[in-house]
Amino acid sequence: MRRKFLATACAAALTLSAYAQKSHPIIVNADKLTAKVQPTMWGVFFEDINLGADGGLYAELIKNRSFEFTTPLMGWAVKGKKIAEGDVLVLNRQEAAENNPRYLQVKVKDAETPADATITNEGFRGMGIKKGLKYDFSVMYRQASKGLKLHLELQDENGKSVGSGILTPNESGIGWNKQSASLMANTDIKKGKFQIWFEGSGSIDLDMISLFPANTWKKRPGGLRADMVQMLADMKPGFVRFPGGCIVEGRDLANRYQWKKTIGPIEERELIMNRWNTEFKHKPAPDYFQTFGLGFFEYFQMCEDIGAEALPILNCGMACQFNTAELVPLDQLGPYVQDALDLVEFANGPVTSTWGKKRADMGHPEPFNLKMMGIGNENWGPQYLERLAIFTKAMKDKYPNIKLINSSGTDPDGARFDQLNNAHRKNKADFIDEHYYRSPEWFFSNATRYDSYDKNSSKVFAGEYAAHNKNEPNGPNINNWRAALSEAAFLTGVERNADVVNMASYAPLFAHTDGWQWSPDMIWVDNTSIYGTPTYFVQKQYSLNKGTNVVDIKKGNKVIAGKDSLYASAVIDQNKNELIIKMVNASNKAQTQTVQVKSAKKLASTAILTSIANDLKAVNSFDDATKVSPTDERIDVKGKNVAVALKPYSVNILHIALK
Ligand code: AHR
Repeated sequence: MRRKFLATACAAALTLSAYAQKSHPIIVNADKLTAKVQPTMWGVFFEDINLGADGGLYAELIKNRSFEFTTPLMGWAVKGKKIAEGDVLVLNRQEAAENNPRYLQVKVKDAETPADATITNEGFRGMGIKKGLKYDFSVMYRQASKGLKLHLELQDENGKSVGSGILTPNESGIGWNKQSASLMANTDIKKGKFQIWFEGSGSIDLDMISLFPANTWKKRPGGLRADMVQMLADMKPGFVRFPGGCIVEGRDLANRYQWKKTIGPIEERELIMNRWNTEFKHKPAPDYFQTFGLGFFEYFQMCEDIGAEALPILNCGMACQFNTAELVPLDQLGPYVQDALDLVEFANGPVTSTWGKKRADMGHPEPFNLKMMGIGNENWGPQYLERLAIFTKAMKDKYPNIKLINSSGTDPDGARFDQLNNAHRKNKADFIDEHYYRSPEWFFSNATRYDSYDKNSSKVFAGEYAAHNKNEPNGPNINNWRAALSEAAFLTGVERNADVVNMASYAPLFAHTDGWQWSPDMIWVDNTSIYGTPTYFVQKQYSLNKGTNVVDIKKGNKVIAGKDSLYASAVIDQNKNELIIKMVNASNKAQTQTVQVKSAKKLASTAILTSIANDLKAVNSFDDATKVSPTDERIDVKGKNVAVALKPYSVNILHIALK
């Protein structure tokens, strides 16, 4: 870990302030292990919202590459002196390619210059282009005879070429062919576009017109945006929950997420409308679709790459209850249940099995070791319980070791929550998924939420949460420090109860600054840049410092959960032989706390204090990506005592080596 040491480092070896002398010390009993921290404890939740996948993590730059959007030429402009009415058409080959029926037919005669015949793609809110980077173009085409040459151009906002290439289709006949070419960009462009101009005479059918930067994650062709995956990898998340969220449920059942349609050759993955396309009237996103270029295979692969457990969520036979609330009759639930069973085979089955073979054919003969799965997202009511029971029986009969996550609805309290929570506990559910989008005040005052939960009952998965601040001077639902500070305070209570809450993930994860529907979000991107919000840095600190066991920490013999605006929890890391104490000072005043450690082990003579502090309105941005981020300082340990200066509005992680 890179540590920024402050110039003030040793000044922190403070004499105790009057405040600290008067108040009780913080007592950490490092030998009293109160809970085991699961390796999965801190994870991330990826949903295709806010251009999370297409236009985001999935690095494809061409929007509507297969002409399957409901407006088939959306994203494309057709232009040229030698293009007459009817020369450029969207055709449909229907049953010959039922998942990808449409294609573009271009007829040109005697085209000689770019002014004669072009098609131009605008990208997802423009295309990010980086100087010196190679771009890989590919296309599926069909032509009766040779005659056309495709000139490929990366362009700036004004249509000036910033990189070019040529593709001469070298096959002809009745079948489809695929061919590639590459281009090198010579300028950085935030919102560029891509043009093909046609030279010569002829007629050509085009489909899957695709352009990827060569620097995808792990340099995989057709892969993921490396900077976005890197931000996740840097957090070392214990799990990735995917692919949603409401997109799992769909506006209606036809629009639900069906994992089987997201694997195999990309040109055979059937595109559907993203349900966030129309969800918010004030935030329409008519060009938001799901190509499934990022499909279940790619999710599993990404999880494996970053060392996270995969946590897929499946539709339970219910569409979003805020939308159509369509229900699959119980006697027709079979295919839905089969999808869940087959997913285990796809992830874990031998290459000789039907679905294991499909995984192997995609390049991964080894199993992905799937261990858990969510049945339903935010579903509720007796209809959910009925359907869940059928899924659970089938899954436990066939795969008793797969842990199932059950929904507790949309809210962390109320009649719906109580009904589901009680039923799930009675049914001995493995995990209950709790969601809370609440005010910062709620997060501060709920730091004790899990102290009273039954430790011997079903485990909690805090699957979606975020502090939503309504009344901020810089706008509502801003990822400012106030929100992140309140989340940090709340998470001390989650960590303290790691034997109740085995997994937690903030939501949503990514947002594109020009294409978002929902805020706040953890990480913001534009076409070429990325930054983590204050929440990102808080989440990362918890994840990187999860330790192996929770240890007892008290002040005046009480848990530290808001008195004097102080919140605290502590873990030890038995592998690193380290005590890690998290302290949140939610007040506007600095406070010095005396920490007394009880342990049979000796403590190192200095400790590292990592802290994030700022004023409540502070935010990060593309221009100032780490304004709110951690700094490190070294402080003295006197025997078993440490005086820790906590800045106003600060999150602090104290690392003490045990000897
Ligand atoms: O995270 C955004 C949405 O919030 C999710 O799709 C849904 O599960 C929740 O209501």
